[in-house]
Amino acid sequence: MIVGRRAELVALDVLLDGAVGGAGGALVVRGEAGIGKSALLEYTVERAAARGGPVVSTAGVQAEVHVPFAGLHRLLRTVPDRGGAAAAMLDDPDTLPYRAGMALLDLLGEAGAAAPVLVAVEDAHWLDGPSWEALAFVARRLGADRVAMVLTARDGEDVDRRLAVAALPEVRLEPLPVPTPRCCSAGWPRNSGRRWRSGCWSTRRAIRSASWSWVRRLPARAARRCCRPGCR
Ligand SMILES: Nc1ncnc2c1ncn2[C@@H]1O[C@H](COP(=O)(O)OP(=O)(O)OP(=O)(O)O)[C@@H](O)[C@H]1O
Ligand SMILES: [Mg+2]
Repeated sequence: MIVGRRAELVALDVLLDGAVGGAGGALVVRGEAGIGKSALLEYTVERAAARGGPVVSTAGVQAEVHVPFAGLHRLLRTVPDRGGAAAAMLDDPDTLPYRAGMALLDLLGEAGAAAPVLVAVEDAHWLDGPSWEALAFVARRLGADRVAMVLTARDGEDVDRRLAVAALPEVRLEPLPVPTPRCCSAGWPRNSGRRWRSGCWSTRRAIRSASWSWVRRLPARAARRCCRPGCR
């Protein structure tokens, strides 16, 4: 379950809805390591799959960051029907990223005519250069297709450079705000120190692991609030 990313989830749902209606698009979800990029991509994949459309996917792999078209090759193999055949063009060392992009665009357009397609690209910061260029080329041209593309990218100088010229819509994940424990104002003892200030989740953890006597020191209503699921 995704916690506290309502605006981002809405943006992803809007993107999927657009693809269903023939107004495709792309979104780069970026942010620091562990911030929740993959979790959002997973959510999008689940939503797209639940709508019955195909999901084609690839992932940047650090070991293949210098292998031309490694990422696109992996993606084409997941495209229904003619994807495998299209992958053969990548064997030609003269293939240019925009040519590969045009081939992919055709394939996605065809697939999208049957059902809306999601292109899921994980860890785009580790995509090889030609694959990134080809996918960015496609991402900028999805407006009339039933295709949505979501890419995740970890913050870093390379990503900054790539995104600065890619002209792709992006959403940057910020750290989730610490939930305000309502129980604090309702009587949590001030001398409980750091623990109560860090919010109800850690408060509940502290209660579980440390001392039920904390709870006993609370007024009954506040204790109930602290311990009930979803208290924020
Ligand atoms: N909003 C959230 N709600 C619930 N769980 C979350 C949320 N954000 C992150 N997580 C969990 O935190 C962990 C790390 O998140 P995730 O793998 O998505 O990070 P990431 O940004 O993709 O990191 P990396 O850059 O290393 O790939 C996962 O177990 C994920 O399920
Ligand atoms: Mg990730």
